[in-house]
Amino acid sequence: MLVYMSVVGNTRAFVNKVDHPKLEITEDNCQEVTVDEDFIAIIPTYDEGTTELMWRFMETGDNAKFCRGVMGGGNRNFAQLFCYTAKDFAEDFQVPLLHMFEFQGSAYDVDLLEKEISKIDNSTHSSR
Ligand SMILES: Cc1cc2nc3c(=O)[nH]c(=O)nc-3n(C[C@H](O)[C@H](O)[C@H](O)COP(=O)(O)O)c2cc1C
Repeated sequence: MLVYMSVVGNTRAFVNKVDHPKLEITEDNCQEVTVDEDFIAIIPTYDEGTTELMWRFMETGDNAKFCRGVMGGGNRNFAQLFCYTAKDFAEDFQVPLLHMFEFQGSAYDVDLLEKEISKIDNSTHSSR
């Protein structure tokens, strides 16, 4: 599954390029929804006050246990601040930073996302 948030719509447009179950985290559901399957978190870069709903989601129930990694969306014009939200998330929850992309992602970024999804699918099936 893909678990993401989006303020302006770039991250939503990125995840909608792949045919895979998705869950959008919002202020309304971030402390309500629990998952019971592995997921990749996909997060744009903003100040902490804007992105903390992804932290609240992770801290709800056992959600954090199912996170297999994070991808960050951002803008390279922010230089060393490029995708810092996803970097912080990876560090705070000790999950791999799988990839960083700009805006709605290029074909290359989509390809990488699909590869990460199939890695999870393969490991889930082989452990059953
Ligand atoms: C107020 C504001 C602050 C931002 N700060 C950063 C930043 O520090 N680093 C970065 O890589 N991108 C930054 N961005 C770019 C967004 O993360 C990027 O446009 C992203 O694709 C937005 O995703 P969304 O449309 O799903 O909300 C910022 C954008 C805005 C509007």
